[in-house]
Amino acid sequence: MAIEIRPLREADDRTTFRSGDADLDRFIARYAGQNQFHHHTGTTYVALEAAQILGYATVAAGNIEGEALPAAARRTLPRYPLPVLRLARLAVDASAQGRGVGSALLRHVFLLALKMSEDYGCVGILVDAKSDAVEFYARVGFSPLEVSEGELESRPKPTPMFLPLELVRAAVAPAAT
Ligand SMILES: CC(C)(COP(=O)(O)OP(=O)(O)OC[C@H]1O[C@@H](n2cnc3c(N)ncnc32)[C@H](O)[C@@H]1OP(=O)(O)O)[C@@H](O)C(=O)NCCC(=O)NCCS
Repeated sequence: MAIEIRPLREADDRTTFRSGDADLDRFIARYAGQNQFHHHTGTTYVALEAAQILGYATVAAGNIEGEALPAAARRTLPRYPLPVLRLARLAVDASAQGRGVGSALLRHVFLLALKMSEDYGCVGILVDAKSDAVEFYARVGFSPLEVSEGELESRPKPTPMFLPLELVRAAVAPAAT
């Protein structure tokens, strides 16, 4: 499948995107643009086929307390807040789910994390996974963190998950021959 992944542009039509998750659909239609072009609080990367948005991933620089890291990373890294790339949102249009678009966006996010690590530091990728998506992240190596930030009790809590930089690097490395 020939899809292009690039940063969202103001001219992109975001009104028809339907992932099956109303919050994620509302975000790209109403907020992704203003966050990116006016507030600079995060950047959305879109996967396109013939000018139609098939999926998107929104990222922002963030940090994680060293104490919150999984045990293996805790052993080698300092305890003060450490830079991470936060995958704030990921969604694929229902018409394109199961075609590898989510994986392609995730791979793009991995490359962004590697670039961030070289340019100004990044120890891994942090995502707040919705319960239906925990397995999607676990299969590429994300592991759940023990801490969870306060969410409204009435809503299902997302699971914070982390992928350390060495696993990001391994995931994008060309397969050994
Ligand atoms: C979760 C989501 C992003 C996956 O995108 P996608 O393009 O459908 O996924 P892909 O086609 O790249 O799937 C890659 C693999 O992951 C598997 N997979 C896809 N969604 C999965 C899920 N929710 N749980 C477990 N595995 C999943 C696929 O079966 C596929 O496996 P394979 O490589 O063995 O064939 C997409 O289904 C979606 O937008 N869902 C609604 C919104 C959502 O939950 N977003 C995540 C918020 S944290």
